[in-house]
Amino acid sequence: MDLDKKALTPAKSFKKCDMGILKGSAIALIIAVLIIYFKKNFSNSSQDGIISLNSSYDYIIIGAGSAGCVLANRLSEDPDVSVLILEAGGSEQENPNISIPVASPTLPLSKQDWQFKSVPQKKACLALRDQRSSWPRGRVLGGTSSLNYLQYVRGSRHDYNGWFAEGCTGWSYKDVLPYFIKSENIKIPELHNSDYHGREGYLSVSDGTATPLNKEVYARAMEELGYSTVDCNGKSQIGYCSSQETVQNGERSSTAKAYLRPIMGRNNLHVSMNSHVTKIIIKDKKALGVWFVRDNIKHEIMANKEVIVSAGAVNSPQILMLSGIGPKEHLESLEIPVVADLPVGNNLQDHIMTLLEFHDNTTRVATQPKLASPMNILKYLLFGTGALSKTHAEGTAFLGSDRSISPEIQLHFLTYSYHPEDTDVFLEFYNIDKKMKEGKKKEYQRKIDRNIETFTILSILLHPKSRGTINLKSADPFDPPIIDPNYLDHPDDIKTLINGIREVLKLGDTVTFKKIGASSQDPLELYAPQCESHTPNSDDYWICRIRHYTYTLYHPTSTCRMGSKDDPTAVVDPELRLRGIDNLRVVDASVMRNAISGNTNAPTIMIAEKAADMIRNINSVTSMREKTDKL
Ligand SMILES: *[C@@H]1O[C@H](CO)[C@@H](O)[C@H](O)[C@H]1NC(C)=O
Ligand SMILES: *[C@@H]1O[C@H](CO)[C@@H](O)[C@H](O)[C@H]1NC(C)=O
Ligand SMILES: *[C@@H]1O[C@H](CO)[C@@H](O)[C@H](O)[C@H]1NC(C)=O
Repeated sequence: MDLDKKALTPAKSFKKCDMGILKGSAIALIIAVLIIYFKKNFSNSSQDGIISLNSSYDYIIIGAGSAGCVLANRLSEDPDVSVLILEAGGSEQENPNISIPVASPTLPLSKQDWQFKSVPQKKACLALRDQRSSWPRGRVLGGTSSLNYLQYVRGSRHDYNGWFAEGCTGWSYKDVLPYFIKSENIKIPELHNSDYHGREGYLSVSDGTATPLNKEVYARAMEELGYSTVDCNGKSQIGYCSSQETVQNGERSSTAKAYLRPIMGRNNLHVSMNSHVTKIIIKDKKALGVWFVRDNIKHEIMANKEVIVSAGAVNSPQILMLSGIGPKEHLESLEIPVVADLPVGNNLQDHIMTLLEFHDNTTRVATQPKLASPMNILKYLLFGTGALSKTHAEGTAFLGSDRSISPEIQLHFLTYSYHPEDTDVFLEFYNIDKKMKEGKKKEYQRKIDRNIETFTILSILLHPKSRGTINLKSADPFDPPIIDPNYLDHPDDIKTLINGIREVLKLGDTVTFKKIGASSQDPLELYAPQCESHTPNSDDYWICRIRHYTYTLYHPTSTCRMGSKDDPTAVVDPELRLRGIDNLRVVDASVMRNAISGNTNAPTIMIAEKAADMIRNINSVTSMREKTDKL
């Protein structure tokens, strides 16, 4: 390990002033300026939150997240129906960081996060505190689309064709593509004329290119490995892809902002925030309404037509189980009367990743002092452009040699040093500390010296074979559920991740990477004292490192999975109706048959767009189909 050389990289000159402090105050400065700006813009948001509710509505939507906001919009398009949407959290406008793409890393563990944690993992997360992983989930209008890193990725056509082959009638790629297009308003000029993109939807999608590294380094290096640059939401997903981000005029395009805000004034729609649903009222196998608590008062509201659960892959199974829908034994153990014995909370899948860091001696990576330059702040305030309007997760890639199946590995190219311990998951270094020699501790501190300019490549396992569960801790609706992702339980998962790492290491051997002083040696430098006994770069070394430093990408799915009527693993049918219960649907990432090849927000929005048509019994995409059927 070449520590001294690392300390001598050009960035060293920054050390003259105390960068640590400067960085902290710089971001604070950005935020301070922006707060003033947003206060001005948001001053008319006082009518958020409805004071008095009606006693019944045609549709009650539980959860104003990636799916719920879309449904609220589409269902209330029909002036003859009434809609209530309930959100446990408050307004997304309470936290100005939500709007600013570059501030995305500040959102996990904020007030707008449910702040869930997984149970201690046996075969993964070994270096994380208590072996638990943070599980950020949005508790705010827009749900997790208000907290995420804004990546717009639809997944592979083979994912949806796979769902279809397993009994999800109506969910093949051909079936779902028109709904992706319907939802989208593409703001990337080169894609304006692509048949795969839409320009009339609510969801703005903008180019995520933030630095020259995207096109000059990442794309070139991937080319050297034989991957061409593609639109990963277009014809072929395999290859390198400039990020497409859900950003509108420099601001986060959450589903709250994109779908809900523009229509919040409709007379047939009520939005109730700070409303924690405790139970769905079910009688004679029919959903009749909901109970929820707002301002410590319990409310009962009835649904004339349907109750729709859109609370996400964690809270949807929780609410169903609290209402008596779930695995019989589990419910009986908590003395919850069983209404329907279904595998709710099973089949949990999530994307995990390994971090690999590379040096850049051209000083083009994003550091906080650079971001906070007066020019950047001015550009952002005046035009909504510049470095603050991007997440800096500026490139992504899908790897696979066989184009007739879904890719196994996704890469994210982050043009900054990504340290999860700075955001949500703190490594257990302080526990290791006791065992760690003083010299080692210093070595680690130098390694995480934030002044050295590095960028980060995430290698992501797209189709885990391990399966986890969501269970109830108790019958108390205010207790967080028990989340057990069961990471890396299946031996194939670690093998696939190592394959991904080996590909990324090859990037370190490209001419393009070498030119900027990056090498395949760099990723080995991440301090992993637990793995010191293994030969660096051996499979055993990587197995050790992956099991210790297991990070989630926050993509939980499939806990109320969709399937055919006689499928024992299915919770909902292909119309997303709860099996055996009338007037009750689940619409969110929990219905995904299996994890998809990519980030989960765009597919969840698609699911809601499609569900809205099913619920309304209309076909809103006939004209789009004429085009997409030919693709
Ligand atoms: C926004 O981010 C800044 C920088 O991390 C932080 O200091 C501030 O508390 C955040 N604001 C909110 C409302 O969380
Ligand atoms: C609430 O009830 C009033 C009175 O019946 C009705 O005029 C109004 O449209 C209802 N609002 C919604 C959103 O259902
Ligand atoms: C970056 O590193 C490469 C390889 O070590 C070297 O050839 C190049 O001169 C360096 N560039 C700068 C600006 O230091």
